[in-house]
Amino acid sequence: MNILVLNGINLNMFGKRDPKQYGTATLADIDRSLQALATELGVTVQSFQTNHEGAMCERIHQAFHDKVDAVLINAGAWTHYSYGIRDALAILTCPVVELHMSNVHAREAFRHVSVFSEVVKGQICGFGADSYLLALRAAVSAARAA
Ligand code: DQA
Repeated sequence: MNILVLNGINLNMFGKRDPKQYGTATLADIDRSLQALATELGVTVQSFQTNHEGAMCERIHQAFHDKVDAVLINAGAWTHYSYGIRDALAILTCPVVELHMSNVHAREAFRHVSVFSEVVKGQICGFGADSYLLALRAAVSAARAA
């Protein structure tokens, strides 16, 4: 089973950025824990990060052609307004899990809206770096049930 983890705009700055919201783990640390959990679950995880919206859409198109089994996405601020990424995600037929490190519902009003909500299987937020691990477990069980 192949799972793709997508990280969007500004997330390469995890570890340096607003530690109250995002803790101190870097994306590389998160990738290492995802790889460890992937081994435990018997799945393969590939990660991708970009600050360019078009590159994110093209990576999602590639995931469609590659027939990946599930996608995890933390799109950062794009979550709240990118209809382009939403439409790209809607092309996928596999389960998509949206995730956030912070509890977006306890923050500024603009973060309460996800334009992805209608096209994802579900959302996990508020557990810091553990949101990624919870999302991987959720994605694998959704893909196994599909
Ligand atoms: C985030 C939450 C978003 O609102 C914010 O723009 C981010 C990070 C999170 O992981 O908590 O960049 O997606």
